[in-house]
Amino acid sequence: MSFGPDDTPYDAIGGEERVRRLADRFYDHMDLDDAFKIIRELHPDDLGESREKFFEFLSGWLGGPPLYMQRRGHPRLRMRHAPFPIGDVERDQWLACMAAALDDLEVAGELRSFLDARFQQVADFMRNR
Ligand code: HEM
Repeated sequence: MSFGPDDTPYDAIGGEERVRRLADRFYDHMDLDDAFKIIRELHPDDLGESREKFFEFLSGWLGGPPLYMQRRGHPRLRMRHAPFPIGDVERDQWLACMAAALDDLEVAGELRSFLDARFQQVADFMRNR
């Protein structure tokens, strides 16, 4: 996985299938690991739609096709998260869940440092209490 100045994170991670896998592994961990119970309980019982929306979002956010925007409009993430109580504990569970998914895909090196920092920023921004 090389990640140079000319690569999008989307390409560096390996394209569509790998991005879909990242979204799926993220929700697998959330669903199966009790360490993520608090955030799991904020989500619907059936995670099918969540998986799809997150994949579409990540596709554009990582520099690939902006599927979420094309299909659903502007993500307005902070507004969409406003109904859910998100503080430090929820943010940290979310980030740990994402770290587990990135580990599964063996995302390492510069790409990993870049993504860890960017996820940290958005997750911080999502806190509303
Ligand atoms: C910080 C802790 C976070 C918590 C507790 C959280 C929780 C949730 C919940 C409960 C939903 C609604 C369920 C659903 O529609 O699937 C949701 C939706 C979503 N979240 Fe998060 N989230 C967090 C951070 C993030 C971050 C950092 C991102 C992006 C990098 C993100 C992206 C999304 C997307 C794209 C949706 C679907 C929006 C929609 O179309 O309804 N979330 N999140």
